[in-house]
Amino acid sequence: MSSRVVYFNGNYVPESEARISIFDCALMFGDMAFEMTRSYAGKPFKLREHLDRLYGSLRLMEIDCGMSIDEMEQVTHETLDRNRGTEPPDMDWQIMHDVSRGPLSVYSTVFPEGIRPTISINVWPMVTHMGGFAANYKNGVNIVIPAQQTLPAHMVDPKAKTRSRLHYQMANLQAARMGPGRWPLLNDPDGFLAEGPGWNIFLVKNGVIYTPEPRNILLGVTRATVMDLAKKLGIPVHETNLGRYEGLQADEMFCTATSYGMVHATTFEGQKVGDGQPGPVFKRLIEAFKKHVNCDFVAQAHDYAVRMPEWLEQQTMAAQVG
Ligand SMILES: Cc1ncc(COP(=O)(O)O)c(C=O)c1O
Repeated sequence: MSSRVVYFNGNYVPESEARISIFDCALMFGDMAFEMTRSYAGKPFKLREHLDRLYGSLRLMEIDCGMSIDEMEQVTHETLDRNRGTEPPDMDWQIMHDVSRGPLSVYSTVFPEGIRPTISINVWPMVTHMGGFAANYKNGVNIVIPAQQTLPAHMVDPKAKTRSRLHYQMANLQAARMGPGRWPLLNDPDGFLAEGPGWNIFLVKNGVIYTPEPRNILLGVTRATVMDLAKKLGIPVHETNLGRYEGLQADEMFCTATSYGMVHATTFEGQKVGDGQPGPVFKRLIEAFKKHVNCDFVAQAHDYAVRMPEWLEQQTMAAQVG
């Protein structure tokens, strides 16, 4: 059994014992907001921005989680601090918040203690996520447009980060059929490029950065970070409608997300982006990003890739011993 603990409805419980009811709205409707934050050099990066987005999602979903944002921030730090000792000090962490409305009221007899929102915070060493990702920093990713479109904001607003993610999963399945390891970039129903299942998209043309306007997309925390860094570097950034045509003309293309920061695209729709290598704008930005977070996360991912097999073996053995 791992020695990690999770925050679960007011208590800290062993990770393997944290259980959500089969009657929870999260399972019934995908009715759950969530956030994924990561640490850099041990410090949660932009935790407050992630929590602001979490509370924005909850407000849209009309869920009162019963905790103030300050309390949520405090228990997040506490959860991380309770787990730090399970790994060497150079380990960074994924921090996951999941908040649902709680069990459906029709099943209230199963819950004599009363129905209340389900709140969990778990932390996970980045070794597996980033160890598994490391090669992408060198090889880049291959982006395709699947048939599946995003949900437009007038139906279910993608600015809320929720577990209703079937459309992203469909996009993943369709992209996989288009070739191994393909990354799906979903169009919105107006035919404009929107986002991937867990990332935002950027194009570069003639030294200028373009990214979809903030309408039918999640407002990525990393997206905002990269836009700020670009402005500081004097690189113009435009939020605008972009289509497949613009994608095919781009000199550079890259994706942003909390876990890996940023990664360049080698191909788009089966054609090379630029010369298929990270372009000059991407290179300037990723260097600025590393400085900003005080962590060479590319080198770190490669280090984790080396350590990952042993880590997995140890964790599997611990789980078997129970
Ligand atoms: C649909 C979607 N778009 C974009 C992102 C990137 O957002 P962030 O940079 O805050 O991780 C995510 C992150 O999970 C996502 O789920």
